[in-house]
Parts: sequence; C-alpha cells; structure tokens
Amino acid sequence: MSDCNAYIDANRDRFLEELLALLRIPSVSADPAFAPDVLRCAENVAANLKAAGAENVEIIETEGYPVVYGDRHVSADLPTVLVYGHYDVQPADPLELWDSPAFEPIIKKTELHPEGAIFARGACDDKGQFFMHVKAFEAMVQSDALACNIKFMIEGEEEVGSAHLESFLEKHKEKLAADIVLVSDTGIIAKDIPSITVGLRGLSYVEVEITGPNRDLHSGLYGGAAPNPINILCEMIASLKDEDQRITVDGFYNDVVELSDAERAAMAKAPFSEEEYMKSIDISGIEGEAGYSAPERMSIRPTLDVNGMWGGYTGDGAKTVIASKAMAKISMRLVPNQDPDQITELFTRHFEAIAPPSVKVKVTPHHGGQPAVTPTDSIAYKAASMAMETSFGRTPIPFRGGGSIPIVASFENILGLKTVLMGFGLDSDAIHSPNEHYGVFNYFKGIETIPLFYKHYANLSRS
Ligand code: BES
Ligand code: MN
Ligand code: MN
Repeated sequence: MSDCNAYIDANRDRFLEELLALLRIPSVSADPAFAPDVLRCAENVAANLKAAGAENVEIIETEGYPVVYGDRHVSADLPTVLVYGHYDVQPADPLELWDSPAFEPIIKKTELHPEGAIFARGACDDKGQFFMHVKAFEAMVQSDALACNIKFMIEGEEEVGSAHLESFLEKHKEKLAADIVLVSDTGIIAKDIPSITVGLRGLSYVEVEITGPNRDLHSGLYGGAAPNPINILCEMIASLKDEDQRITVDGFYNDVVELSDAERAAMAKAPFSEEEYMKSIDISGIEGEAGYSAPERMSIRPTLDVNGMWGGYTGDGAKTVIASKAMAKISMRLVPNQDPDQITELFTRHFEAIAPPSVKVKVTPHHGGQPAVTPTDSIAYKAASMAMETSFGRTPIPFRGGGSIPIVASFENILGLKTVLMGFGLDSDAIHSPNEHYGVFNYFKGIETIPLFYKHYANLSRS
C-alpha cells in the first residue's frame, strides 16, 4: 500500500466525521433565509482547506456568495491543477419526504450500499464530492506525495446559476492561472463501471405568464366566452412538441451538432438497460424524441421540460373560478453549439407568436448556461483514465452527461482552461431530491483515485 493510501486508511473515521460536520450546515443558496448558513459554510470550507495544508486561504467576496480559495505551490516545474467545486446546496423541500432530516446526516446501509451511504442534502452534490479533493489533498501533503501545484476554488452559487462567477474569473485570472481544471460534480455509470464525463448540457430557463381577464371570474357567469389562461397555457405548452416529440420552437435545432454514426456507435457501447431505468424510477414507458435512444435523449439531444405550473384555485375542495393568470417555469437543456441567449430569444418570439389574441404573454428569462464538451485525447483525460483504471480495476468509459455545470464553458472561454469531469456520484444518489445520499464506497473511491490523477498528470506533463 502506498503511504498515501495508508494515511487515508488510518484516517477513515475522521474523514467521514468531517464531511458530516460540513453537511450539517444548511447552505441553501436559493433561499435568502439561509444566508448566514451559506456564509458559515464558506468559513467551514476555508478552515478545512487550511487544516488540510492549503496556503493563502481566502474567502473572496463576490456580488453574491463568496468563493473559497486556497493553494499550495510545490515547484515551478510542476503543472498546476485548479480544483473547482461548490459548497452551496439545493433546497431540501419537500421536507416531509425525507426519511431523516436533510441537515442531520446519518450513515445507513442500503441494498446498493452495504458499506453504508451518507444521507443528507449535499451529500453527493457537491459537498461529498469536493470534500474528497480536500481529503485527498491532505493525504498527499501528509505523505509527501503532492505531485502537482494545486489551487482550490469552491463557490457558493452553483445551484442558482453561478451568476457572479464569470466576473470572478475575469477579475482573478492571474490568481487562477493553471494547466487544467479538475471537477468532481458528476457521476459514474455504476459502482463497478467507472466513467468520465466528457460533455455537459447547457441550459435556457424561462418563466412564462399568461394573463386573460383582469380579475378572477365566476366560471359559470363568464365561462365559455372568457379566455381561460390556464387552458390556453396548457394548449400552448402542448404545442411545443410535435408527434415525434421534437421541439417546435422555430429555429430551435438550427445549431445542434449532430453526432456521426461512429460517435453514436461509440456511445451505444456504454451499458444501459431500459428495463432497469424504468424500474429505478417506477415508470412503465420511456418518452422522447423519435430516432434516438434513451441515453442519447438524455445527453446529446436538447430537451424542453415544464418544471412547474400554477394558477387558479389549488386549495382544498372546489372553487368555481376562471383565473386571471397562469404561469409555468420551463427549462431547455441545450447541446453543442446551441447558444442559451439565442435559444431564450427564439423561445420568447415563438411563445409570443403562438398565443391567441385573447391573452397577454410575458416571458421572463432566468439563468442560463452554455453546454460543454471536454477532450478525450488530452494528457489530463489520460491521467484521469489511468487513475480510475487503477482504483476501479477497469478502464473508465467516456460518457456525455445530461446535467449542466455552466462554469465549465467559462473556464475555457475566460481562463483558457480545459476541464476534467471526474465525478464519483451515481444516478441513484437522488441529488436535488429527498433522501439524497452518497455511498461511503464512492467517497473513499474518490479519495483514493484523486492522488493517482496527480501522479499520472505530473508524469505525463513531463514527457
Ligand atoms: N452537479 C450538478 C450537475 C450534474 C449532476 C451534472 C450530475 C452531471 C451529472 C449541478 O450541481 C447542477 O445541479 N446543475 C444544475 C444547473 C444549474 C444552472 C442550476 C442543473 O444541471 O440543473
Ligand atoms: Mn453540483
Ligand atoms: Mn446540483
């Protein structure tokens, strides 16, 4: 066993305890009620970085929540790795669907995780994952094995769109200078099937509001002739996809990069079972765009989904009413080379055009994000692949993910840096959902794999 692994082994219980302490802080970035907790979480991250051996640790203010920075310089001859993660988490609601409180982490055994899994909001996304880097760093420092210079930047606004991070990158270009960005905020295909994420989808997120009559109306007195904004919103939304479940927004697919047959064939090699997929979320059929497999629909194809819809009377019992307004939140996941601003504009134009003259339409854009693809022919990819091959005993599969991490495109555009997405989560971890958890196996697999990345990356950089 390497010194590094011996150190990890000797400190397992503490490595878990420290993560649990981090998970007890409800750093929900979306809800201003948690602002003091988010700031307290930044302090905790800074203290952890310092304790692990980081120098120049700083809590750097932004227009929003701060970024926690820390570094350790080993030698000017060595490459520099910039580790990115986020200490903010999604809101925990609906709270009543959690089996144990979201911010009182506990370790429980499950069928998939006989070694135990850590249940808490943020356990996987992303506290458990970025904390692997902090602990791997500590292990490397303590066993004198840190093979690269290292910089940490852990932000607090990822779950609300990283609105202030681009200007942070602009402002701190020099401080953040590096050779590669390393991120664990994605997943692997299965506990025994490692993968490296090589693509993320972008995002356009809009809120729509349909206004009919100037007040809520008696549905008997007015019903039949008055425009019902809820009915009309339903029709408008239904028309956004055709019978092949292709999105009907004019120009929506114009910039979509189609994969070659060879690329699609390579993708199809990643194991996927429709049966298991359906079973895992208790559905009896799969939806989606004609002509594409389920994994393709979830990664290389764009989507349009209603995330929430409301209006009218939703309380107990019945109230006979035609509402004045109906609202919906709609997300569009984007693929290379779709541009989020342009898609938002196309959507707005289209949505205004399909509304009947009896109603008014308002479309309000929320945060967006650019899609990203990362190379598989770089030394950084090779280093990650070799690291995972050693720790899992199996070569990882390059895999296009369906989620979004908008800042990855900015790392390239602003800092000129490529990213390696070496995450260790599982789809079954229930990120953003009640009962989010992270396998103890995955946590330690990450801590073991990360030092191997540094070793291989330094070696490959030399040759
Ligand atoms: N870590 C996720 C993204 C992710 C998860 C990518 C799993 C691939 C696999 C990230 O925290 C996230 O939730 N991103 C948001 C986007 C953001 C703009 C709110 C998302 O994808 O909805
Ligand atoms: Mn995340
Ligand atoms: Mn998330």
